[in-house]
Amino acid sequence: MWLSSLLVLVASSTVLAIPAPTITRRQNSSSDLGSCPGYAASNVVKTDSSLTADLTLAGSACNVYSDDLQDLKLLVEYQSDQRLHVKVYDAGLNVFQVQESIIPRPKSGGSSSSAALQFDLVEKPFSFTVKRKENGEVLFDTSAAQLVFETQYVRLRTKLPDNPNLYGLGEHSDSFRLTTQNYQRVLWNTESPNLPKNTNLYGTHPVYFDHRGDKGTHGVFLLNSNGMNVNINNTAEDGQYLEYNTVGGIIDLYFLAGKQPADVSSQYAEVVGHSAMFPYWTFGFHQCKYGYWDVNMVAEVVGNYSTAGIPLEVMWTDIDYMDLRQDFTEDPERFDLHKMRELVDTLHSRDQRYVLILDPGIHYITNYTTYTSGHEQGVFLKAADGSDWLGSQWAGVVAWPDWFAQNTQQWWSDQFSTFYNADTGIDIDGIWVDMNEASNFCDSTTCNPYNKGGAPIPTHPPRPNTGRPIPGFPADFQPSGTRDVEARRAEPLYPRQSGTGSSKGLPNREWFFPKYHINSHNGDLPDFTIFTNLSNADGTMQYDTHNFYGHMMAHTTQATMLTRRPELRPFVLTRSTFAGSGRKVTHWFGDNASDWEHYRVSIRQMLAFVSMHQMPMVGSDVCGFNGDADEFMCARWALLGAFQPFYRNHAELSSRQQEFYQWPRVAEAGKKAIDTRYKLMDYAYTALYYQTTDGTPMINPVFFLYPNDENTFGIQEQWFYGDALLVSPVTTDYSDTVTIYFPEDTFYDYWTYEKVVGQGQNVTRSGVQYNEIPVHIRGGTIIPQRANSANTTKLLRQQDFVILVAPGSDGNAKGRLYLDDGESIEQPAISEIAFAWDGKTFSCTGSFAYGGAQGESITVDKVIFLGLGSSGAGGNGTQTGNGTQAGTVEKQGPWKLDGEFSFTL
Ligand SMILES: *[C@@H]1O[C@H](CO)[C@@H](O)[C@H](O)[C@H]1NC(C)=O
Ligand SMILES: *[C@@H]1O[C@H](CO)[C@@H](O)[C@H](O)[C@H]1NC(C)=O
Ligand SMILES: *[C@@H]1O[C@H](CO)[C@@H](O)[C@H](O)[C@H]1NC(C)=O
Ligand SMILES: *[C@@H]1O[C@H](CO)[C@@H](O)[C@H](O)[C@H]1NC(C)=O
Ligand SMILES: *[C@@H]1O[C@H](CO)[C@@H](O)[C@H](O)[C@H]1NC(C)=O
Ligand SMILES: *[C@@H]1O[C@H](CO)[C@@H](O)[C@H](O)[C@H]1NC(C)=O
Ligand SMILES: *[C@@H]1O[C@H](CO)[C@@H](O)[C@H](O)[C@H]1NC(C)=O
Ligand SMILES: *[C@@H]1O[C@H](CO)[C@@H](O)[C@H](O)[C@H]1NC(C)=O
Repeated sequence: MWLSSLLVLVASSTVLAIPAPTITRRQNSSSDLGSCPGYAASNVVKTDSSLTADLTLAGSACNVYSDDLQDLKLLVEYQSDQRLHVKVYDAGLNVFQVQESIIPRPKSGGSSSSAALQFDLVEKPFSFTVKRKENGEVLFDTSAAQLVFETQYVRLRTKLPDNPNLYGLGEHSDSFRLTTQNYQRVLWNTESPNLPKNTNLYGTHPVYFDHRGDKGTHGVFLLNSNGMNVNINNTAEDGQYLEYNTVGGIIDLYFLAGKQPADVSSQYAEVVGHSAMFPYWTFGFHQCKYGYWDVNMVAEVVGNYSTAGIPLEVMWTDIDYMDLRQDFTEDPERFDLHKMRELVDTLHSRDQRYVLILDPGIHYITNYTTYTSGHEQGVFLKAADGSDWLGSQWAGVVAWPDWFAQNTQQWWSDQFSTFYNADTGIDIDGIWVDMNEASNFCDSTTCNPYNKGGAPIPTHPPRPNTGRPIPGFPADFQPSGTRDVEARRAEPLYPRQSGTGSSKGLPNREWFFPKYHINSHNGDLPDFTIFTNLSNADGTMQYDTHNFYGHMMAHTTQATMLTRRPELRPFVLTRSTFAGSGRKVTHWFGDNASDWEHYRVSIRQMLAFVSMHQMPMVGSDVCGFNGDADEFMCARWALLGAFQPFYRNHAELSSRQQEFYQWPRVAEAGKKAIDTRYKLMDYAYTALYYQTTDGTPMINPVFFLYPNDENTFGIQEQWFYGDALLVSPVTTDYSDTVTIYFPEDTFYDYWTYEKVVGQGQNVTRSGVQYNEIPVHIRGGTIIPQRANSANTTKLLRQQDFVILVAPGSDGNAKGRLYLDDGESIEQPAISEIAFAWDGKTFSCTGSFAYGGAQGESITVDKVIFLGLGSSGAGGNGTQTGNGTQAGTVEKQGPWKLDGEFSFTL
């Protein structure tokens, strides 16, 4: 979260005179790049699986943004039939390369003869192409411009066909299919309130998908963590191109052959790692708000959800719970430990869960053991004189963990084992790491952190004692008093450090203002973050590793969560991400706004993260974070969010409360949304499982399933939840009308079962009420559902199954169901069940080891066949008739999912 407008400057009596450093920002123009000589290849050595060459600067250095490197090396590896690796790096091996611990490199074992892709090289001036062998399609061609490889600037440009369909390069809030003219993607992780467009946000995922219809889809991943601008342009002189411009690192490219879109997703997972499997309960509904000002209010929200009959699975608390906004502390009056333990016990007794927030900035103060123990163990990033380098975050002046330092993991785990101790502390079920880009309230290199405020002091007046008991909570959950927080704001331990420390590690670079400018909306590289001239414990520099600071915090935290509950899958939600973060953690899209545009933006962000960045467990702050939610928008968003993987309602401190129970209209929409989501939970969980095993996305952009239908390539307001449910929400503000694109295929209305024959055309639906969201089942699929929803996921698992069969145009259908206990890392017994329908016989086959825990159901009540009855012949997308008459045939069970069964209709 971020509170730029509310940030209070705490008047400081210790203002030191800081001479403003003279900053000279040298700027060369990109037009100077025309004089760059490029490179010449020599000593080209080919084997069946690889190619190596030396690259030498082919003329006098241009030194446009820094110094040209004289000697480079080229390594090409046919890593598998579908993956080609091309690496251009400095012969001296000094330039930064992303550590193996961040992205363990995939193994290489392919052969050029069987590979789908072909690498060809032009020696002088050096350039290369990557072709799809099968059809000769040129996927990448660097002859578009000379390679420039300088100490602080690297440029590589590829030609592209006109009007390419490009996607990815997150994190951004732009169109899902990227603009291809005069368009720039900036990758530099930063604080980004209200998700500004056409610029950088919280995460870095330098992978794009290039979809060429029936000529195939491929992916290109640049494994580079430095700040970069990726320019996509089409000019009279140069035609269509994509160009990487980084301020460091090497060219480390992975070409993924596809050829279907989802194949690229799978192949990308093989490079950055497959997603972790997350607990079943994380698919439940979550509620949070910054500004639940005491433990009683938290309990009251939970109670109000029960009273309203809206299932709440997970309750969250933002930084409100902390004492003076310090990690691993609780406000002794508002969030008294005894009461917090009682809250968690009560939630657990009701089969509900609790999640708390943490920030990376550790309050720099003598009597705070999290800081002092960290200082003793050397876990913080250091200034030039060896003292802890300071910035400003919620607690005030803070030190920052160096996730590379030897003791950091242990120190972090120690904090957890004390504060989140199951027996003596707050026994959380998941953790949320925020502000980890890292976001520093210090805006520039001349900032004195002592002049920055921390969080606004909680000054909300005590709540009146209503005498009302909170439903479901012990009687002692009653309002408490306030206290004078200002008086307890503490004095610092050390004098202020100078903002600009000298650096260790790689020599003599311009750490703050490299001549090539990264167009971050937050200014220069060190602005609003940890200074880029700091070195990490492993000798690397923040200049190079900045973009995965948050990723490291999240992965370190995941390892810590494992130490608390070693048998259970950890749940960690992070704001900042890097390629590969999905291996361990989940993500929400940060501080969006409570408006319709962000409701729409959430769809394309989900599409990119799940299908292209291999982070399946994602979602937006439902009903929006900043600003006041509107009843109508919140009702629509309650339904929209239910069809995204992670489903949490969250709002900012000064926003009005927006729990679904606040408005009858939203309560009704929320109930229906959660009811439907829960019935479909095993279907979604199954889709997540297959993404974790083979990378096939649990959310499909429409073109993933209709790759030859050009009308689908730009669709960003419809999606497939799993691979069977086409979700088409109303996306116009306050409208009841939606334009739904139906590819040429058979669909069935999810709500009425009515058959809809898609004609590759838009169909307009009007009169879509605020408790409705159009959803259609794609013919050819089989969906396992729970017969009934429930108020917790635990009770949900006790409901029987109903199987929906939606025959495709050819009369066949198939589907699958994965069952396990929902939370163990080592599953003693799982079921992987395949359902099939061939027009006559329904069959259930597969493995059936999961028998269900106590009380759980693995019984199928009935199988419902859509479109088989006489009146199911259907229309052409114009809907008529109603559900029950729409030609369904039901076959009553029961059958147990403990072995195969089949029947014939
Ligand atoms: C880039 O700027 C430096 C000085 O800042 C200058 O020496 C160099 O010649 C410039 N390069 C080009 C190609 O203009
Ligand atoms: C695209 O090309 C035009 C014309 O050369 C140029 O003015 C513009 O800056 C370029 N945009 C990007 C993002 O590279
Ligand atoms: C809970 O519901 C009561 C009754 O509608 C309302 O007065 C109260 O403000 C609600 N509390 C919270 C924290 O939403
Ligand atoms: C869920 O409903 C059951 C009754 O069906 C009730 O006992 C339980 O308290 C409810 N749980 C929550 C969290 O509302
Ligand atoms: C830490 O020191 C400050 C200022 O001296 C004091 O107000 C605060 O109560 C102390 N905190 C603890 C946990 O002792
Ligand atoms: C469907 O409607 C959208 C606008 O809502 C439009 O952009 C698109 O081109 C239309 N598709 C077809 C196939 O007409
Ligand atoms: C769909 O069928 C209905 C009824 O047969 C007809 O009135 C309508 O014009 C058709 N629409 C299209 C787009 O073909
Ligand atoms: C559905 O159609 C049947 C037969 O026409 C009719 O009897 C029934 O009332 C309709 N149901 C609804 C909900 O419109």
